[in-house]
Amino acid sequence: THWKHGGIVGVFGYGGGVIGRYCDQPQKFPGVAHFHTMRINQPSGKFYTAEYLRKLCDLWDFRGSGITNMHGSTGDIIFLGTTTPQLEEIFYEMTHTLKQDLGGSGSNLRTPSDCIGSARCEFACYDTHALCYHLTQEYQDELHRPAFPYKFKFKFDGCPNCCVASIARADMSYIGTWRDDIRIDQEAVAAYIGGEIPPNGGAHSGRDWGPFDIQSEIFDNCPTDCMWMEGDKLMIDNKECTRCMHCINAMPRALRIGNDRGLSILVGAKAPILDGAQMGSMLVPFIKAEEPYDAIKEVIEGIWDWWMEEGK
Ligand code: HEM
Ligand code: HEM
Ligand code: SF4
Ligand code: SF4
Repeated sequence: THWKHGGIVGVFGYGGGVIGRYCDQPQKFPGVAHFHTMRINQPSGKFYTAEYLRKLCDLWDFRGSGITNMHGSTGDIIFLGTTTPQLEEIFYEMTHTLKQDLGGSGSNLRTPSDCIGSARCEFACYDTHALCYHLTQEYQDELHRPAFPYKFKFKFDGCPNCCVASIARADMSYIGTWRDDIRIDQEAVAAYIGGEIPPNGGAHSGRDWGPFDIQSEIFDNCPTDCMWMEGDKLMIDNKECTRCMHCINAMPRALRIGNDRGLSILVGAKAPILDGAQMGSMLVPFIKAEEPYDAIKEVIEGIWDWWMEEGK
């Protein structure tokens, strides 16, 4: 390609958030001699008004290329392509008028991102927005001033469905779970079996898959084989259940997440080019997610202290 990395570019006081890009033939392509990317911290759950999105786009049309990526794999709003003199202007406008900060880049805490969670979703086992926002505020220094040996990502999923794929894409994945029993509504179970309620929220209703068969569609797909019928009652051996979400996704009106909710912390997911994707490993099986989240911060800060000493 005819692109090259330049020196470090950024805004005053921050070490991250701007990724410098230059063309290696600026005489030939003066319009893209600089083409820096800016990462903007997205709101938790990615909620916007149309008016706000228009303002973001107007700013980027005015001071950048107008090309955006909503949202990048980091979670950020990505503004692709601007020049060095525009950076401070954009930063001022973002932080003062639009009340939005830069995100992370380089060897810092990357912009934390979360699923839509309890704002819309009945499977959320903790308030992903609250925890994502809280830790974003708490670790502003780590986010804006690269002091780590390498990048570090937090992602927050309200349940093991993992809508932000935290288990595959974050150094620390916070995945909602419960430690009591799946709640069963036996009447609704009978209604699924009887065909009165379509399985999977009706998602496959157009397909000719025949009547719903609880044995083949639910029990045989339960990874720990811990579900069975006793007469017309559905039974679950909850201590064997791994919270894979399959049965709950397929029969959401009959099965619900438990009431004693919290999250699991997994660490170390990465996608090395040669070895392929590696999922995170379980570090903390269950922890309550309650403000001010001191127990969670203790885990984070212990890991960072050790890593900053030992990491290369
Ligand atoms: C020498 C040229 C370039 C290099 C070395 C480069 C390198 C990178 C790297 C290392 C990342 C981060 C990947 C990650 O950790 O997720 C990235 C992200 C990205 N790059 Fe480039 N890039 C270059 C040019 C470009 C150009 C010309 C474009 C578009 C016109 C582009 C678009 C993007 C986008 C959209 C992302 C994802 C941002 C995000 O999801 O946060 N890059 N690039
Ligand atoms: C047949 C053509 C294409 C296919 C099949 C394809 C497929 C995909 C897939 C599957 C992903 C998601 C990867 C993931 O998140 O795991 C992806 C992401 C992406 N694609 Fe494509 N793509 C195509 C063409 C293009 C083109 C032409 C562009 C840009 C000009 C583009 C830009 C991107 C970018 C920027 C992302 C990352 C979005 C993010 O940061 O989350 N793709 N593409
Ligand atoms: S990860 Fe779970 S809680 Fe979050 S939006 Fe997806 S299904 Fe809902
Ligand atoms: S959540 Fe998964 S492991 Fe648990 S009972 Fe349902 S299908 Fe089985």
